[in-house]
Amino acid sequence: MIVDLVVEGKAYIDGGLVEAAIAIDDGRIVSISNPANAPESEEKRVAGSGSIILPGMVDMHVHLRDLNQAYKEDWYTGTLSALRGGITLVADMPNNDPYVASLEDLRLKLEVAEEKALVDFLLYCGLPRDPREVPEIRRIACGFKIYPEDYSRLPSLLESLSGGLLVVHAEDPEILEERRKSVKDPRMADHGILRPGIAEVRAIEKILNVARGRGVKLHFTHLSTGDSILKIAHSRLENGNATCDSTLHHALLSSEALERLGGIAKVNPPLRSRSEAAKVFNAVKSMLVDAIASDHAPHALEEKLREEYDEVPPGFPGLEIYLPIILTLILDGRLPLNVINLYSRNPAKILGVRRGAISLGFDGDLAIVELGGEWRINAADLASKAKYTPFEGWAVKARVAGVFIRGVPAYEDGELLVSKGFGRNAREP
Ligand code: NCD
Ligand code: ZN
Repeated sequence: MIVDLVVEGKAYIDGGLVEAAIAIDDGRIVSISNPANAPESEEKRVAGSGSIILPGMVDMHVHLRDLNQAYKEDWYTGTLSALRGGITLVADMPNNDPYVASLEDLRLKLEVAEEKALVDFLLYCGLPRDPREVPEIRRIACGFKIYPEDYSRLPSLLESLSGGLLVVHAEDPEILEERRKSVKDPRMADHGILRPGIAEVRAIEKILNVARGRGVKLHFTHLSTGDSILKIAHSRLENGNATCDSTLHHALLSSEALERLGGIAKVNPPLRSRSEAAKVFNAVKSMLVDAIASDHAPHALEEKLREEYDEVPPGFPGLEIYLPIILTLILDGRLPLNVINLYSRNPAKILGVRRGAISLGFDGDLAIVELGGEWRINAADLASKAKYTPFEGWAVKARVAGVFIRGVPAYEDGELLVSKGFGRNAREP
């Protein structure tokens, strides 16, 4: 048998780095062998000595905007950032304009994504306006997303959501409202007071209480405090199956970034104290969180530079720099090698797709990464429309050199090899 492609080199397989030949045929990984036993192939790539082969990364929390927010990001620029960051699958949030909470909205988003995406994708739907649409929505979307403003509707929708994935933005709306009333004329530095860590913990408690035993697969995203992460761990000790992710900004940055960078570093949930960030970092390090997600949340620079606290939208881009930062922390000995799973295999599993691992039968999604050099994060170079980052100037020791998606070379040495619309909905019903 002659396979489509063999990629050879030092590869991350089953938690370790080994010399291997990965054979891909018809989009799937069909054999993993010693290079000496590699099957004959139409095409062959060898990752050189300074490079490693990783599974394509999976980012389970991104905002690729488009439509009425295309000035912030669109599906082409957003997925180009992903590709350049070694990410082959993104899961996109519904808080767009128009907001995605019906079959019609979802179909519109799918149309745009299918027209422009360079990497594969999954779509979340907001809490459905009409629960009768849930079965149809589920054929397209990988799950539902709930924001604080939707919590009150959850009890009435739980039955229809049963059996599916529900991703939770955990901040208790009552605490947010209380704080809002107590701080008159808030300034940027008040962000963490207006949205305290306790709001996250309380929200987790509330949602766990309401949804317990109702057959919904809960995933708590962008957790920003040690106590929140412990709540999830504790719920699992009691036989729950909730999962969670944190971001690199909550693990590596603190509220000092807000003092230094102002609105650029405004994000929900807010960056916390240094000691809180250290807890999140240690949760990542000890794999107490199930996944890492970028919460890639691009906004126009002029929006981020506004003077008034309320006028500055929260969030910043992350897709393109995530993998290089993770690998740098691994190379520096600050994180263990298998933290890679938090950004590949684990989120894929939560999302219910056979991706994110170099494993037989999985999609042929690979990232070849060059290690050992030193590059500086420079937001001006990002493919995202949002050309700023709180990680500006950070030195990274890894660079994505090539990406394969379903066995197709999609990106090589700075060159884009696939065209708009190559990316597909990865939903596996
Ligand atoms: C997100 C956005 O901009 O869409 N912003 C953010 O600060 N994280 C919204 C969100 O994920 O809550
Ligand atoms: Zn988000």
